Amino acid sequence: MKKSRCPSDPPLSFPQAEAATRFGRILQDTGYSGPQILQALGINDFRALRLIPPPVLAARVEGDRPLDLFIRLFLLEEPVKRNELKRAIPASVAKELLSSGLIRASGDSLRASLKLRPHKDSILAHDAADRLLSANRDSFVMGVGESSLTLLNATIRRRSRKTLDLGTGCGIQAVEAAAHSERVLALDVNPRAVRFAAFNAALNGLANVETVEGSLFHPVEGNLFDLIVSNPPFVISPEKGYIYRDAGMDADRVCETIVRQAPNHLYEGGYCQILCNWVERFGEDWKERLASWCAGSGCDVLVMLLERQDAEAYAALWIGHTEKAEAERFGTKYGEWLRYYRERGIRSIGSGLITMRRSSGSRNWFRANDTPAVVRGPRCGRVIQQTFKAIDFLEATADDRTVFGLPFLVSQEVRIRQDLQHSPRGWKSVAQVLFMDGGIAVSERISPFTVEFLAGCDGRRTLREAFAKAACDAGIDPAIIPLPFRREVRRLIECGYLALPSA
Ligand SMILES: C[S@@+](CC[C@H](N)C(=O)[O-])C[C@H]1O[C@@H](n2cnc3c(N)ncnc32)[C@H](O)[C@@H]1O
Repeated sequence: MKKSRCPSDPPLSFPQAEAATRFGRILQDTGYSGPQILQALGINDFRALRLIPPPVLAARVEGDRPLDLFIRLFLLEEPVKRNELKRAIPASVAKELLSSGLIRASGDSLRASLKLRPHKDSILAHDAADRLLSANRDSFVMGVGESSLTLLNATIRRRSRKTLDLGTGCGIQAVEAAAHSERVLALDVNPRAVRFAAFNAALNGLANVETVEGSLFHPVEGNLFDLIVSNPPFVISPEKGYIYRDAGMDADRVCETIVRQAPNHLYEGGYCQILCNWVERFGEDWKERLASWCAGSGCDVLVMLLERQDAEAYAALWIGHTEKAEAERFGTKYGEWLRYYRERGIRSIGSGLITMRRSSGSRNWFRANDTPAVVRGPRCGRVIQQTFKAIDFLEATADDRTVFGLPFLVSQEVRIRQDLQHSPRGWKSVAQVLFMDGGIAVSERISPFTVEFLAGCDGRRTLREAFAKAACDAGIDPAIIPLPFRREVRRLIECGYLALPSA
């Protein structure tokens, strides 16, 4: 097994807030930002950092610009010389970094004890991955992972008086929420994560992020929020060893607990967005299971299914994150995980985003999609908010005649892909797939008739007129809109394929 570089793990005491902010400014001034780092390293995406060996990348930033030095030190985890650091930053800041333990010296050679990852306009400190292989693996603080990005992209970013980031880790969600929140509470049960989050708030000069240590909602009992975001330790397994991943609760209990408790902490109209994994048992409908978590919550609920994996694939994926070197250990754990699933009747695991909106006065609705969605880019939060509006409209408009009397428009991002098959009479269309190019992408097959109908939805014609036009072309009675088609159109509105021009 690869050894940790610092087996004794001297305590990581971050610099005071003022010094951290000063250091953040120095990093920004040297160009320590996403685009400039990618350019310096000659890569297009930070994912390349996992694929290309650090020495290969380090050779591309051998120069003596401060930016080169910081990339080697804080991103590639390479050692640098003491006098190189002296040249790059004021002596007082260098002294602070060394005395706080952010940089450790061994003779003339210096190494960073954490990583600094730029994300948009911010910089986030977090643990290097090899802490997962050390004796201190349990308190590992993760960086900006795929799950972090999914939640970031899906977050509803409207003004919030008070935002809670439950399970803040390095504080990435809290730092991003600070731009549209008066106050942000970054909460974590791991004291090391709380310290990382506080340091990152200061590093990015954010005075409106407070940190709090404790489990789930206990430290914020009695508090209400306009927005709660949570990327919790949702992994479903028999393990308890990694705090960033294992909640220490059975199966999907941690997600259920957050879903059940969050409504008590939302202002009226406030949103809670939780990334979840849930178990799918033999003979049980996963949607009913999630609906039961939300029953009586006083919230409208949108579940966005992102992926479904069979239990074997799920176990192999997660065990592979931590057991990289030893096949035997991997095998033992794999057996334990599968036994755990078998004992509980778990056949597969679903993952997705649950968005809840507190709406106490009205009859609440619950929606969940069957086809997995893909979250693409930062517009997704706005798409989710629009979906809430669309569902509110449909819930309030039971009469299809009213819906078909309105001039809906095909949304900008809608695309239709056509599959053609060769036949003796030339190319024959065999399938049409409707999808969104960006935002939240769910693909689904639609009929040639629906393709024609959508062509007529131009924001001026009513849906009834668009139907009549397509019906005349297809030789169908334009006066009777069949129930299945009315249902299909309601769903197209719900998914955002069709919107009212003002929306
Ligand atoms: C998957 S990480 C998410 C980190 C970060 N929010 C992000 O989006 O990248 C889950 C976080 O939840 C924290 N956590 C675990 N159990 C918790 C609990 N009972 N209460 C609060 N936080 C907890 C972990 O320490 C970890 O920082």
